[in-house]
Formats: sequence, C-alpha cells, structure tokens
Amino acid sequence: MYQKSILNRQENLKKTKFTLNVQSCFKIFLILNCSMTVGIYFATTTGKTEDIAERLHGLLDSAEGPKDISDVDDLSELAGHDGVICGIPTWNTGADSERSGTAWDSILEDIGELDLSGKKVAIFGLGDSSTYTENYCDAMEELHRYFQQAGASMVGYTTKTDYTFDESKSVVGEEFCGLPLDEDSESDMTDERLSGWAEKLKGEMF
Ligand SMILES: Cc1cc2nc3c(=O)[nH]c(=O)nc-3n(C[C@H](O)[C@H](O)[C@H](O)COP(=O)(O)O)c2cc1C
Repeated sequence: MYQKSILNRQENLKKTKFTLNVQSCFKIFLILNCSMTVGIYFATTTGKTEDIAERLHGLLDSAEGPKDISDVDDLSELAGHDGVICGIPTWNTGADSERSGTAWDSILEDIGELDLSGKKVAIFGLGDSSTYTENYCDAMEELHRYFQQAGASMVGYTTKTDYTFDESKSVVGEEFCGLPLDEDSESDMTDERLSGWAEKLKGEMF
C-alpha cells in the first residue's frame, strides 16, 4: 500500500515535470517570437517616399521606424533586425546604376557586403507611371539586387497586372520585385495597394 502510494507520487511528479517542460518551451517560443523586429527605412527627395513609409508604419504598427537611411551611421543596424522594409524613389531616369538619386545610391555596395542571410527584406518604390512609363520605379530592382547579394530572402513581390506602364527594370520574371506606388498619377490607388501589401507582408515577414 505504502509502496503503491510512493509510485503514484513519482508518476505524478514526472507528469508535472513534463507539463512544466512543455510550458517552458512554449514560453521561450513566445519570447523569441515576440522579439522579432522589422525596421522600416526610406530615402526621399520631395517627401513622398517618407509619407508612404509613415502610412505603412500605421498599417504595421509592430514595425520600427520609419527612419531615413541617411540617418543610419552604421549599416550593421540593418542586420540587427529580423526583417527590413525599404522605400526608394526613382529620379535618375534611364540610368543603369544609382537610379534613385537619393542616399541609397551611395550605400548600395556596402549593403551588398552585409551578411543578411536568414533576414527578410521587402522593397516599395515611388515613381510616376505616366510621365516615366519606360522607367517606372526602376530603382527598386537595383536595391533588390544588392540585398539579394547580401543573402537576404526577398519578399513582398507584386503582380504587374494592376499597373499601366510600358517598361520597368523592377519587373523580375513576371512580377515587380516589390511594391510600386505612384503618388503623381495614381494616388487614388495607393491606399488599396498599400493595405494589400501590408497584409501580404504580415504573412511573409512577421
Ligand atoms: C526629374 C524627375 C525624374 C524622374 N524620374 C523617374 C523615373 O525615371 N521613373 C519613375 O518611375 N519616376 C520618376 N520620377 C517621379 C518620382 O520618382 C516621383 O515623383 C516620386 O514620388 C518622388 O519620390 P520622393 O518624393 O520620395 O523623392 C521622376 C521625377 C522627376 C521630377
């Protein structure tokens, strides 16, 4: 009788330990998951890309920023995040390199030398699909290429079917390698495009 009660207590103790272990693992998983950080960065000339970065932040409130990339002293800050969202306009029409005409241009090669393996990166671009229809949001692809070179996993691609333009270097395969936005000629479409993209990123990045 006494032996049976000891065995029962030992059995209960084992069960308690197992439950505690499962609970601890779950807590560690939650802590690790909650500490995931995503940073929003942008560069701008006339403020439109900054405005979009702020609107995006409103839709992804767990993301950090937005921060002007020219205020980043040490690019390893990017590698400190689990995910990075970058906003880039196109100003240097038709250029092969340094297409944005912003602070991004001078750090492209440095970005390519970072180790961003295991990190997710998404890009949105500002352009004008009507006036610059042969070079629509060309700068996105350049930034995309350097982040890819750094080993980042690129997300946030967008179908080109809802856009009117002639050519864009940012069409990679059948899709845009990010989210193009046009505050000059199609600003009435921005809300829907941006909120759709934010939902997509919640699945792909967060
Ligand atoms: C001189 C000039 C050149 C431009 N070149 C392009 C271009 O090649 N492709 C494009 O899609 N948009 C082009 N744009 C449109 C800008 O990218 C667009 O206005 C963008 O929203 C500016 O963003 P920002 O205010 O953040 O600098 C150009 C605009 C100007 C005034």
